[in-house]
Amino acid sequence: MAMVCAFLMVLVVMSYSSTCCLGCDLPHTHNLRNKRAFTLLAQMRRLSPVSCLKDRKDFGFPQEKVDAQHIQKAQAISVLQDLTQQVLTLFTSKESSAAWNATLLDSFCNDLHQQLSDLKVCLMEQVGMQESPLTQEDSLLAVREYFHRITVYLREKKHSLCAWEVVRAEIWRALSSSTKLVAKLREEK
Ligand SMILES: *[C@@H]1O[C@H](CO)[C@@H](O)[C@H](O)[C@H]1NC(C)=O
Repeated sequence: MAMVCAFLMVLVVMSYSSTCCLGCDLPHTHNLRNKRAFTLLAQMRRLSPVSCLKDRKDFGFPQEKVDAQHIQKAQAISVLQDLTQQVLTLFTSKESSAAWNATLLDSFCNDLHQQLSDLKVCLMEQVGMQESPLTQEDSLLAVREYFHRITVYLREKKHSLCAWEVVRAEIWRALSSSTKLVAKLREEK
């Protein structure tokens, strides 16, 4: 399992660092932060996933709504921005700080925060360059509903450590999807 994860992570990182073109330039440091956020989120694990099987849940990540094939480049950045913001909101909550190692959590949120400002700069550069609207309402809505399901789940589970572990693993997967979106967009040109 650990091997598979490590292998997947290498794949993600490799595809992510391939060069080329978004509608704007995300700084090189964006890749590094992204990589580090993945590592930190993996390190944050406190319980074995096996011990939390009973709490497993399908949150229905809106894969097709954040898929590069179904989304325009100009809009992808705003979807990524929203996704990153939602993860940050989730992990900066009061309940989150009770569940995780403070040092790791702090670095993770810090990375997300910086990624968010990269994306914001990128989005602002795009305004004026694109004729198409910058938001993709159905994707944004799908992402928000997804995070709403996660929030409701955590509340129902009274923010137990197992519930947080399930959510941590889920967010790890969601972040890999978003990374693949960026990678695909970069390959497009
Ligand atoms: C939190 O994680 C850091 C880095 O891995 C570690 O050095 C520290 O001992 C941990 N703190 C607690 C309270 O477990």
